[in-house]
Amino acid sequence: MFNHLYLPSVKGDLYLALGSFFSEAEVERRAARLPTKSSKSMIPTSMKAILCPRYGPPDVLELRNVPLSMPKEKEVLIKVRAATVTAGDCELRRFQITPLFWLPVRLIFGLFKPKKSMQIMGQEFAGEIVEVGDEVTQYKPGDKVFGMAGLGAGAYVEFRTTDRFKTVAKKPENMSYAEAATIPTGGLNALHFLRMAQVQPGEHVLINGAGGSIGTYGVQLAKHFGAEVTAVDSADKLGMLEGLGADHVIDYQQQDYRRNGQQYDVIFDVVGQDWSSAQLSSLKVGGRYVGANPTFSMLMRSLWNRLSGQKKTVRTGLAGETVKDFETLRRLAEDGLFKPVIDREYPLEELVEAHRYVDTGRKSGHVIINISHAHEK
Ligand SMILES: NC(=O)c1ccc[n+]([C@@H]2O[C@H](COP(=O)([O-])OP(=O)(O)OC[C@H]3O[C@@H](n4cnc5c(N)ncnc54)[C@H](OP(=O)(O)O)[C@@H]3O)[C@@H](O)[C@H]2O)c1
Repeated sequence: MFNHLYLPSVKGDLYLALGSFFSEAEVERRAARLPTKSSKSMIPTSMKAILCPRYGPPDVLELRNVPLSMPKEKEVLIKVRAATVTAGDCELRRFQITPLFWLPVRLIFGLFKPKKSMQIMGQEFAGEIVEVGDEVTQYKPGDKVFGMAGLGAGAYVEFRTTDRFKTVAKKPENMSYAEAATIPTGGLNALHFLRMAQVQPGEHVLINGAGGSIGTYGVQLAKHFGAEVTAVDSADKLGMLEGLGADHVIDYQQQDYRRNGQQYDVIFDVVGQDWSSAQLSSLKVGGRYVGANPTFSMLMRSLWNRLSGQKKTVRTGLAGETVKDFETLRRLAEDGLFKPVIDREYPLEELVEAHRYVDTGRKSGHVIINISHAHEK
């Protein structure tokens, strides 16, 4: 009803318009902010968001109008310009979660349907800060940022507040919002697992599932670390992977890298689905296998290899995010050391279509969601 009632406006008008909707204290709070830190912000009182009220196919996603909250003292308000659809978003939407994490994830997200607080999906975004809380010193309105929304309080929205500054960083100046939105999932995971593998210059690294969000960053970062890279994916992505710098490519539908007689110092396995210890036969003595998609057998093998002092190591887990990693990725981007691969872009209103496309498993690199703001048109 009060969508697109913009701030700043005349204080009296604000009282008139909001008086029947918010408490007097809230109107005071909003009005008090008008002449403060956000000079050019035009902030509506409600916004478009895409919610996932049930687990299931892409059609469960619903476009709704939801209230927009102003940032608290330690928060910033970000106008989201771009988000992405990752394989992980779709796995969560249809609740196709590895048995290892099935119960814990259900308990966190909702046993029978997503909890109300978890219904906005989208894990990564880029946008502009439009308002800051009184105690925020590191950001100001107008700063362009990218970040990890995390699971639950998602990115498929026009605006979002956050006080988790370790998951936000200034946008690389040479990147568009769409490009910057691809960095968190792909960049942070690739950096985390390649560091876990302790890749050394001159080593031969095989990346399995190289053509997706994590893999396309993995290829570029492994090259930056000085490795010789073999990229494994489906045939239509191999040219793109060579363009990113892969020294060798393998079409996994034509050749099984575990049985081609080659041995690698590091196997970075983004796929990990049919994992078995056969993967280790392709590792040199002293080689490291790192898996971004943890399975129970992978964890058991990791433990066994460690306890029994095996020369080949297996490691897996979940990547976290740190301010330092965000800064590293921003610097690498600004130095032109990697470039995101963007397959398709959709407006927020066509998120269902975007999820349908990612569900096919055919995407190359990243799928972008562009978020337009009605009052700017
Ligand atoms: N550990 C963590 O913290 C973490 C964080 C984020 C994501 N993940 C998980 O990591 C997985 C990958 O994420 P992503 O975002 O990079 O996915 P993605 O963008 O879908 O990329 C996966 C790539 O693997 C290819 N692929 C599929 N089957 C393959 C096979 N048998 N051999 C070789 N390549 C194959 C796919 O291509 P085709 O389908 O065209 O063949 C696709 O290019 C997801 O399951 C996600 O949940 C883990």
